[in-house]
Amino acid sequence: MEIKLAKTAGFCFGVKRAVETVYEEIKKNTDKKIYTYGPIIHNEEVIKELAAMGVEVIRSEEELKKITDGIVIIRSHGLPKRVYRKMEESGISYVDATCPFVKKIHTIVSRESAAGAHIVVIGNRTHPEVEGIRGWAGDRVSIIQTREEAEDFRVEEPAGRVCVVAQTTFNYKKFQELVEIIEKKGYDILVLNTICSATRKRQEEAGRIAKSVEAMIVIGDKRSSNTQKLFEICNKECLNTYYIQTLDDLDLNQLGSVETVGITAGASTPKNIIEEVQNNVGTNF
Ligand code: F3S
Repeated sequence: MEIKLAKTAGFCFGVKRAVETVYEEIKKNTDKKIYTYGPIIHNEEVIKELAAMGVEVIRSEEELKKITDGIVIIRSHGLPKRVYRKMEESGISYVDATCPFVKKIHTIVSRESAAGAHIVVIGNRTHPEVEGIRGWAGDRVSIIQTREEAEDFRVEEPAGRVCVVAQTTFNYKKFQELVEIIEKKGYDILVLNTICSATRKRQEEAGRIAKSVEAMIVIGDKRSSNTQKLFEICNKECLNTYYIQTLDDLDLNQLGSVETVGITAGASTPKNIIEEVQNNVGTNF
């Protein structure tokens, strides 16, 4: 029985760094309350564990008001500039665990906005990362997610430069398609592909492994959209694909008598959950 575990399974660099920051801050500040601005990752198990350790999730700017003492950790998605300002004005300590790839987009958007450019963020407007990026631009900013929005895009006079960036997890093909539509409008345009390769690499590896095994296991939170996507990719290549949150969801009998099993996991699946599945599958066959 051979197990093929994807090297890219689980946390990407930015999420790993943010989660580790929370555990480090808990250890360093035993006398202080730790808050995260939004859930640090979309994984029920981790959130429950952190809640049991006293970590509280702040869900809005309004909720910052209740913090009298404690440390707020900014997750990998980042935050709008005004929230940093609010925390500084209220004397709230914070630790910034924004993924450096997202931070780089904030820097570009700030710089280009200050130089008078109109910013276009290609991404999902309700995603916290996009809300954060928007919050580093001035008033001249548009969020574009669909073909129709790209076709309707206009810049008021004087047009000046148009600077286009992308949400880090946006689909590359769709990004190219939307950029092509915007480029046809004849503006002085600067396009920066800020899509992170972590998601693409994880998806490509999952597809490759699924193609070469008799059963495939995809581990991740049921609500995690990147895990759902991984499941779709794997299921296309291997009909014997299982989507589980933890080992408890895995019925080993269901797998049948297979010689090769592949394992991958979504971006918010902790290592210990992946290892538990790997060890159990390994010893039960
Ligand atoms: Fe950062 Fe890429 Fe992950 S932008 S948070 S390393 S998906």
